[in-house]
Amino acid sequence: MAPTVKNPRVTFASEVPEGCFPIVGEHLVFDNSRIIDLESVPLNGGFLTQALLLSPEPYMRERMRPLTAQSYSTPMVVGAPVVGTCLVKVLRSEKEGVDVGDLMYGMSHWEAYTVQPYVEGRRKYRPEDWAPGTFDMDSLVLTTVPDPKGAFPLTRYCNILGTPGMSGYVSFEKFAQAKAGETIFVSAGASGVGSMVIQLAKAKGMKVIASAGSDSKVEYMRSLGCDLPFNYKKTHYQEFLSQNGPVNLFYDNVGGEAFAAGLEATAPFSRVIVCGMISEYNVPIDKRFGIQNTELIFKRRLTINGFLLPDLIPEFGAKFFQDVPVMLSEGKLRSQEVVYKGIEKAAQALVDTLTSGSDVSGGKLVVEMQGKTMGSSA
Ligand SMILES: NC(=O)c1ccc[n+]([C@@H]2O[C@H](COP(=O)([O-])OP(=O)(O)OC[C@H]3O[C@@H](n4cnc5c(N)ncnc54)[C@H](OP(=O)(O)O)[C@@H]3O)[C@@H](O)[C@H]2O)c1
Repeated sequence: MAPTVKNPRVTFASEVPEGCFPIVGEHLVFDNSRIIDLESVPLNGGFLTQALLLSPEPYMRERMRPLTAQSYSTPMVVGAPVVGTCLVKVLRSEKEGVDVGDLMYGMSHWEAYTVQPYVEGRRKYRPEDWAPGTFDMDSLVLTTVPDPKGAFPLTRYCNILGTPGMSGYVSFEKFAQAKAGETIFVSAGASGVGSMVIQLAKAKGMKVIASAGSDSKVEYMRSLGCDLPFNYKKTHYQEFLSQNGPVNLFYDNVGGEAFAAGLEATAPFSRVIVCGMISEYNVPIDKRFGIQNTELIFKRRLTINGFLLPDLIPEFGAKFFQDVPVMLSEGKLRSQEVVYKGIEKAAQALVDTLTSGSDVSGGKLVVEMQGKTMGSSA
């Protein structure tokens, strides 16, 4: 009989209603009942990968919505494994250009072993079902990445060298118009995106104000060079910014109260970059903060830019891969990850990503499949 191993996964078990947090065990279910024969499972011209790291990220909440609700991404498929950004290693390959031992980063399934491309349980993609500009997230491919061979922990691929770092980098390149001596406010400054933006702004000679939800994260932001970090759970956004503003650039990851306070703190002719609004993703529409100072957009002559990462990759993706690994290896950029060990913790890690999390020490949450420590602070 062929040798088999367990193939644990996290299944997207049911749609998450609007305005609710996903519940572990109800919407996201750990399933350890599957097995796989690693030597003889058919590859059908594809390749077999082993997941090393899973990257829980806020956008995944958007994909857990009911099928009927339209948005910028395709929804996750009920009954199929959760799809998210992962770092995987190639175990077998029948695909030209993909070699055994390659490390690959990108969209994959939250399970130990996957035959790529994986189609089981996937809903047939029909572009006519979706509004123009919708991304089919499942079709985003895995890309081969360099093996750092110990030069830095692999967890960096789920933070500064992955989606969060790239989102901060490309949006800052495109919209910031950063000038030395100006002031920026970064909300969720200890997040993957926020920690990148703080460092890029400091490199441009800006004064940086940033918010986060714990004193440890305040110290983490200070260690990244932030001049005025504050804990928004102790000091209201508006109170801190009115004492320390005005700001010329406002980089928002939070929305709601942070967005209103950031707008209020702007100087005339400021730029606003809206990356995300994580405080609103799990709140029913009628319970959301409700911005009341939007008239400032014309009174202060503000320029507001929203973006989605895939829009900016064609223009700035190559520069990201050219600049950021070098800056990281030279110590000009830092990255810190909090590692949850074991796929059985992955569902909770995703829920924690959507809140301040159970670990408030600072750094992007990453799930390590093997339970061995592969990364911590730089
Ligand atoms: N536009 C794009 O293409 C794009 C791409 C990537 C990410 N994003 C957005 O960028 C933001 C950060 O993403 P990330 O990947 O960097 O996240 P992350 O590293 O996983 O960090 C998320 C952090 O958000 C903070 N947060 C959660 N709920 C909050 C609330 N109610 N109020 C204030 N802060 C809250 C928490 O930190 P605290 O402890 O400080 O509260 C949490 O640790 C999100 O809004 C995300 O949707 C957008």
